Formats: sequence, C-alpha cells, structure tokens
Amino acid sequence: MPRTTLTQFLVEQERAAQAITPELRLLIEVVARACKAIAVNVGKGALAGVLGEAGGDNVQGEAQKKLDVISNEILMQANEWGGHLAAMASEEMETIHETPNRYPKGEYLLLFDPLDGSSNIDVNVSVGTIFSVLRKPDDGHAVSEASFLQPGGAQVAAGYAVYGPSTVLVLTVGTGVHCFTLDREMGSWVLTQSNLTIPADTREFAINMSNFRHWAPPVRRYVDELLAGRDGPRGRDFNMRWVASMVADVHRILTRGGIFMYPWDAREPDKPGKLRLMYEANPMAFLVEQAGGAATNGHTRILELMPTKLHERVAVILGSRNEVERVTGYHNEVAPAP
Ligand code: AHG
Ligand code: MN
Ligand code: MN
Repeated sequence: MPRTTLTQFLVEQERAAQAITPELRLLIEVVARACKAIAVNVGKGALAGVLGEAGGDNVQGEAQKKLDVISNEILMQANEWGGHLAAMASEEMETIHETPNRYPKGEYLLLFDPLDGSSNIDVNVSVGTIFSVLRKPDDGHAVSEASFLQPGGAQVAAGYAVYGPSTVLVLTVGTGVHCFTLDREMGSWVLTQSNLTIPADTREFAINMSNFRHWAPPVRRYVDELLAGRDGPRGRDFNMRWVASMVADVHRILTRGGIFMYPWDAREPDKPGKLRLMYEANPMAFLVEQAGGAATNGHTRILELMPTKLHERVAVILGSRNEVERVTGYHNEVAPAP
C-alpha cells in the first residue's frame, strides 16, 4: 500500500471532501513544515545550546525558555510571506502580528502556542506545538485583536505536533482527527492513523494532584471518588498520569482515552484557570470533540465560550465523554452555568 503523505491527504480534503480551500491547505502545510524545523531544534538540545532560559518573561509573566523564543520565530517567519494569513497571534507575543505590507494578505488568522510544556524542555520530556486557525471576519474592518475574538466553534482547523520518541502531527479540519508521523529520513509527514476516537469511558485521569487543596468542591468531590477506587462510589480503580505537557497528556487521551483537567484553583482566584483559551483550550477542544470526546470549563462547552481578550485563561476539563459530563454535572449542581 502506498503511503499517504500530509500533502496528499490535504489535496484529497480539498478535492473530494471540499473541507478546505487551497489557501488553508497552504497554511497547514506551512505550519507542518515549521513544526519539522522546531522538531530539529528540540532534538538537538544541548548540542545546539538551545536549552535553558531566554532571560525574559512573556506577556503571561512566565520565564521564556530559549526554545520558546526559537519556536515562535520559526512559526512567524514560515507564515508571514505565503499570502494566506491576515495576522497571527502567539502565547509568546503580547499583541497580534499583522502580515507585513510587503506581502499579500490572506483571509486566515493563525494562533499558536509555539512550544507547550516548557517546564519539560530541560528534562528531555515530550513538548509540542499547538495551533488554531480562524477566518478573518468578513466585516470590512482592518484586522485587529478583535478579529481574533471568535468562539472556538468557528475554528476551521486545529492541531498539534508532539516532539516525543517519534514526532507526530495531529490535525482536524472538521472531518475527524488524523495523525501523521514524521519520517525523519524522507522529511515527510506520513498518515499513520485516521479518524481517532476517544472511548466514552476510561479508568485514567490526568490532573496536577499537588493543587488538590486549592480546588473547588466539585473537582475535589470528583477526584476523591476516583481515588476511593473499587471501594468507593465508582466501584473501580482509576490510574493517574500527568506529563505536565498538555500536548503529551492530550495525545495520550486521543490514543487510549482518559480525562484531563486543569481546573480553576484558589492560588490565583481571579484567573479562571492556567491554560489559555485561544491557543491551548480551543484547538484541543476541537480535536477532542472531533474524536467523539467532550471539553468544558466545568459549566459550558469550551467551543461555545466567547473570548474577551487574546490571552484569556480558562478552566479545562476534556477527554472521555462520560467522565467529562460527570464532573461538569458536579459543577452545575453547585452553580449552574451563567
Ligand atoms: P506552556 O509551557 O505553554 O506555558 O504550558 C504549560 C501548561 C501545559 O502544557 C501543562 O498541562 C501545564 O502547563 C502544566 O502545569 P503544572 O506545571 O502546573 O502542572
Ligand atoms: Mn502551553
Ligand atoms: Mn508555550
């Protein structure tokens, strides 16, 4: 059987399924090519002197790693000249980056977390790139931050690359979730799994347990019930995994099921959560729903939330449908969705 490359897959999506336009195909190819360049840098590690701190903070007040900055540069440079983008936005940039006037402007908006899981870089654990694609609103206005403030349900494509033992690209254009593995010798992305599905039930959960004492009662109740195992109300044992790279945790869930939670907690009560809505939660929620799973902020589907600012944070509960519905139900018993 001949292997299907990402290029062939995208051409088929354009021709047969009419799921994407030629410009969106180019955009996805460019992002995927940038991910190859990031994979090379991540893979060289200490040999290229790319580990460690960059020396500054990003807009979130988090210390930037050298690889955060390098990955951001790679994505920016790859995407600005192709004519497919009106603007892009990144975890590592305070404001949006408009396509410079010297290049043609396209109708798409690209958002990314250039390197997710920064705390794992120096210890050689999987990290990744997350991206989300929106269409610029057809409202006659010049592109601005407001153009990006669309609910996740408006995404036309989303995906991530995970730089692990193998480098894998997981993609949706709204026709299921498809997985491509980087053939390092050939330099091409090869389709290795189509139509990923997340089982509705699971015995595996992912949460940073060290925050237990800071969580709201519905999250404590849910996790307490899991920890009680076969003698508790759930009547079975649950296993726990926490990579601390969202890409790697979500990839495990897309592969074999599970529930991932980064809930609100009382350490920073004014923030709805740690993770960012527009370039972490939305693309992951789109992928998870396309794979038959569910994603909420405890009350509402993530994809229905209307963002009010670019770097907005959100509580995230996603993965196997029945578990996500259970913990969302616990929240809505206490306080119904606004
Ligand atoms: P980033 O490195 O892009 O800032 O994101 C890190 C996120 C996410 O990948 C992960 O799930 C979470 O932070 C881990 O948080 P804790 O260190 O609090 O466990
Ligand atoms: Mn991240
Ligand atoms: Mn990041």
